[in-house]
Amino acid sequence: MCGIVGYVGKRQVVPVLLDGLRRLEYRGYDSAGVAIAQNGTVKVSKKAGRLSELEEVVPYEEFSQATIGIGHTRWATHGKPTDDNAHPHQDCTGDFTVIHNGIIENYAELRRELKEKGHVFRSETDTEVIAHLFEELYEDNLEETMKKVIARLEGSYALVVVSVRDKNKLLAARQDSPLVIGLGKGENLLASDIPALLPYTRETIIMEDGQLAILTEDSVTIKDIKGNTIEPKIFHVHWDDVAAEKAGYEHFMLKEIHEQPKALKDTLAGRITEDNKVKFAEGFALTPEMVRDIEKVYLIACGTAYHAGLVGKHLIEKLVGIPAEADVASEFRYRDPLVTDKTLVVVVSQSGETADTLAALRESKARGARVVAVTNVVGSSVAREADDVIYTWAGPEIAVASTKAYTTQLLALSLFAIYLAQERGKEATYLLEEIKKLPEKASRVLETEARIKELAEVIAKHDDAFYIGRGLDFAVSLEGQLKLKEISYIHAEAYPAGELKHGTLALITEGTPVISLATQPSLYEKTVSNIQEVKARGAYVVGIVKEGDEKINEHADVVINIPEVNPLLSPIIAVLPLQLLSYYAAVARGEDVDKPRNLAKSVTVE
Ligand code: G6P
Repeated sequence: MCGIVGYVGKRQVVPVLLDGLRRLEYRGYDSAGVAIAQNGTVKVSKKAGRLSELEEVVPYEEFSQATIGIGHTRWATHGKPTDDNAHPHQDCTGDFTVIHNGIIENYAELRRELKEKGHVFRSETDTEVIAHLFEELYEDNLEETMKKVIARLEGSYALVVVSVRDKNKLLAARQDSPLVIGLGKGENLLASDIPALLPYTRETIIMEDGQLAILTEDSVTIKDIKGNTIEPKIFHVHWDDVAAEKAGYEHFMLKEIHEQPKALKDTLAGRITEDNKVKFAEGFALTPEMVRDIEKVYLIACGTAYHAGLVGKHLIEKLVGIPAEADVASEFRYRDPLVTDKTLVVVVSQSGETADTLAALRESKARGARVVAVTNVVGSSVAREADDVIYTWAGPEIAVASTKAYTTQLLALSLFAIYLAQERGKEATYLLEEIKKLPEKASRVLETEARIKELAEVIAKHDDAFYIGRGLDFAVSLEGQLKLKEISYIHAEAYPAGELKHGTLALITEGTPVISLATQPSLYEKTVSNIQEVKARGAYVVGIVKEGDEKINEHADVVINIPEVNPLLSPIIAVLPLQLLSYYAAVARGEDVDKPRNLAKSVTVE
């Protein structure tokens, strides 16, 4: 998500930091800032907007002698992209300056506690609590304070602090957010990602969870949380700059597919309370009374986000018992929708800027509906104009074909459906324990990559493919076929498994690939009957089923197993092999995976 750079050495620090931030630009960001240590003070310069805006305000002259500093580009999570919310953040005295990537889940409690003790906050960020914690807990040793601060934090962080109390040093800590150290000669660096280090060194230490790092110009010390020194492994980077941006993956899409366990974890962070309830904090003000008044829910979106909406519809109907419809935004906005003040409209949009989705949001509000947005971009148009916002914390998605945005949308919608159920007195909390296991299950599916690659090489030789499933499996099939066609250009169609015989079965001939999803126990037998229908016409059947399903072997040519998961949550897991299948089919056909022809990442025109 955010970009982090730190430097201690002999060079002029400002150009080093700005160059490092520029090299992390591909991650996307909405504000940037630097903190420079010089003459016993640490001064901050920060600005909302592009890096060029920061470059205009940094007082280069004043900092011309400075050789220690930290820099940050922000991808907003808590608080809009403003100058005040940009990093670095300082405590009340200005003695402790921090930059952070990640999410502090208990920031609201910490903020309350620190305010009661008299600390004055200048931003809405979760990060600022860290600076004030340093001030509150400092006795006479910065490193000891770091340990005490970390002990108070729940959530994920890559954290760097520079302080006037212990000059000539950078302190860093990592938990669930990436942080890499660059080892130079007479200089050392820190960054959230390798590209920022490459102009200075190729010798790096990839920090691990629970580790602290202390950097001076001549030394790098890695410790565990108890303070024991650890002998780090040195990793030599042989990638070029472009490969480094993709963390060594061949394409952003593959990198983003592999980021899903982490993205799911982040989207979940802080949203399940200790007494097993769903809560949405910032930007969400739907009251229990409002929830009780809802008579109908519309889920409106485009493309992949619409496919997420289809899953949302099933979940809301099943868990809450309210009628729900998913609709394509460009249709909804022009068909005089039956929306009243008893209708809840949920708009789903990764970018938060899709023109049709935004128009549908405005149309709904004009008709008196309350609008909840599910989006990945803080401060986007959809986020600003909706009444309530649920953020997916997937981080920037660069590949045009959406992957981690989709699965985090599914997770956010699952949490939202459970929330609605909870507020209407329906029992759905049994799903929460299962939800917590999703990141780990997603990782397990991604381990089957090599097998899916082999399968993709077979599929890549065909010009047509079909996807079938029933219920939620059909919703996932729609996303699977879209992924395949948008990047591999193989013609693909998804059908409700029972509908195929009403026409499309005519297209199934010897060897036609039919990717068949059968993860829903209540629909399993029916789906297997449909699989037999296509098999009898010579189809090449790929079965996507749960582990332990032996029966499918009789009917499928290839079987891909997914871990046992509650049927309502299975889309989040079942889509992963389909993403990999599309990716490797496109690679096998030599297509430009990250930038498919004719398509745009964000469609801001009608
Ligand atoms: C474009 C993208 C799709 C995306 C759709 C909706 O077509 O290529 O991947 O699903 O827009 O975008 P949104 O940002 O609203 O989710």
